[in-house]
Amino acid sequence: MNKSYDTIGRRYSLNRRADPRIARQIVEALGNAATAVNVGAGTGSYEPRHLAVMAVEPSIEMIRQRPPDASPVVRAIAEHLPFADGAFDASLAVLTIHHWKDQARGLAEIRRVARRRVVILTWDLAAGATFWLTAHYFPEITVFDSTRFAPIEELADSLGGAKMIPVPVPRDCQDGFLAAFWARPEEYLDAGRRASMSCFAQIPHEAIEDGLARLTRDLADGAWDRRFGELRSRDSLDAGYRILIAEAG
Ligand SMILES: C[S@@+](CC[C@H](N)C(=O)[O-])C[C@H]1O[C@@H](n2cnc3c(N)ncnc32)[C@H](O)[C@@H]1O
Repeated sequence: MNKSYDTIGRRYSLNRRADPRIARQIVEALGNAATAVNVGAGTGSYEPRHLAVMAVEPSIEMIRQRPPDASPVVRAIAEHLPFADGAFDASLAVLTIHHWKDQARGLAEIRRVARRRVVILTWDLAAGATFWLTAHYFPEITVFDSTRFAPIEELADSLGGAKMIPVPVPRDCQDGFLAAFWARPEEYLDAGRRASMSCFAQIPHEAIEDGLARLTRDLADGAWDRRFGELRSRDSLDAGYRILIAEAG
């Protein structure tokens, strides 16, 4: 069961901000939309400034961290959007659908209010399965995530078909989501970094302690570098993040 961002989101904006390369991919995916609703908008990352955006966010803590010049925000949930059918050119949902209590209903709602297209940034569990952090140190995250991420093909089908675009994570990714530090493993030892990754709040404390102890040891004795060190010189990694673009109608 997902924890609320009123509890886990208090420090969100300290480590989470739009990465410009990923933001560009989102803008491209939105095409020539002039209006958009950003559902699960959080603190306003990835809200395109060049179009009229209405944000939707249920958590007061997240709304509180929105910058003063962010788009207007309505406190609501994806499952009940307070807008008419086709009220926006596009619906946007970034790294949020896995938090929705009733994902099917939320997806139906974002399709209902979009005149032209739906753009979702989410994660493909199968494509991300080999990511060293979860595969080798925190397998409990994968177990938990398998309860909240549907197979990406099912998600695409539920949108009536969708184009799928890989979102490589740059080596110096500026948005501190789970895979952001794939080439900077030391960052995962920082409790502040982990506080901005929701999955660490969802798994047992002992599992975190165990994974951290093993990662600390492997970094200190060189085992991590022997096994994964070639990653440190790569520019980007496909860790399973995907943009889905579905045409409305
Ligand atoms: C990981 S944050 C992503 C925020 C923002 N889109 C971003 O990319 O930084 C997930 C967001 O989804 C919101 N959320 C959780 N349940 C929701 C629901 N049922 N409907 C809409 N948003 C929801 C959370 O409050 C949180 O702000």
